[in-house]
Amino acid sequence: MRRRIVAGNWKMNGSKDLAKSLVGDVRSEVGSLANGVEVVIIPPALYVADVASLAGVDLKVGVQNVSQWSSGAYTGEVSAEMAADLGCQYVLVGHSERRQLFGETDDVIARKVERILGCGLFAMVCVGETLEERDAGDAEVVVAAQVRKALAAVEPGQWERVVVAYEPVWAIGTGKTATAGDAQAMHAAIRKVLCDMGAPAEEISLLYGGSVKADNAAALFAEPDIDGGLIGGASLVAEDFVSICRSVP
Ligand code: G3P
Repeated sequence: MRRRIVAGNWKMNGSKDLAKSLVGDVRSEVGSLANGVEVVIIPPALYVADVASLAGVDLKVGVQNVSQWSSGAYTGEVSAEMAADLGCQYVLVGHSERRQLFGETDDVIARKVERILGCGLFAMVCVGETLEERDAGDAEVVVAAQVRKALAAVEPGQWERVVVAYEPVWAIGTGKTATAGDAQAMHAAIRKVLCDMGAPAEEISLLYGGSVKADNAAALFAEPDIDGGLIGGASLVAEDFVSICRSVP
């Protein structure tokens, strides 16, 4: 079912104290929101247990990455099974920082998606073009290919646990948000790719990420194919993150 979702990706930030204060503050506010938005907190893996213990029924919890393997001699890795064991519902996969800084390929991302869905978790799959690709007029081609490759192995009964997050690389952490019109155009293109893949495209939540703030969220979320946001920096400040959650119509 197509849900309204706002997810906070803490990246490599936070502490036990922040987890306690931020989750408590967010939970006290979003628990009563009338817009029915689903709020997901995605801290560093080391703090997932803390967040999960504080989330209650008002918040969902996720991890920022999992291994493409389920267990074994993979020092430093964590598995989708472990995320499920800790009470996570979501796994972020294919974030541009994983692609660019850690060399994650489309093939590795597809294998991770298989593992995530195989464990009954929601896969929040990140796609997005670089500024060079956009300037070259290749943005939709690049993003379409990322969607197809990442979701190539999704089985018919698993699409309900797929969420796609469009994050133009040039908008992440830069303050340069895509215009609502440009973001909507890409979201519509992604939804068409999903439809062409045989997915129930109208039922899949598509989130926008990339410098979403309290003052621009409402315009983005008002677009017909933007079902919420994947928030970085603003998710570390309870007041800002709650304001973004409130911006969901
Ligand atoms: O995953 C969300 C993140 O990439 C967006 O970061 O700081 O631009 O909201 P930010």
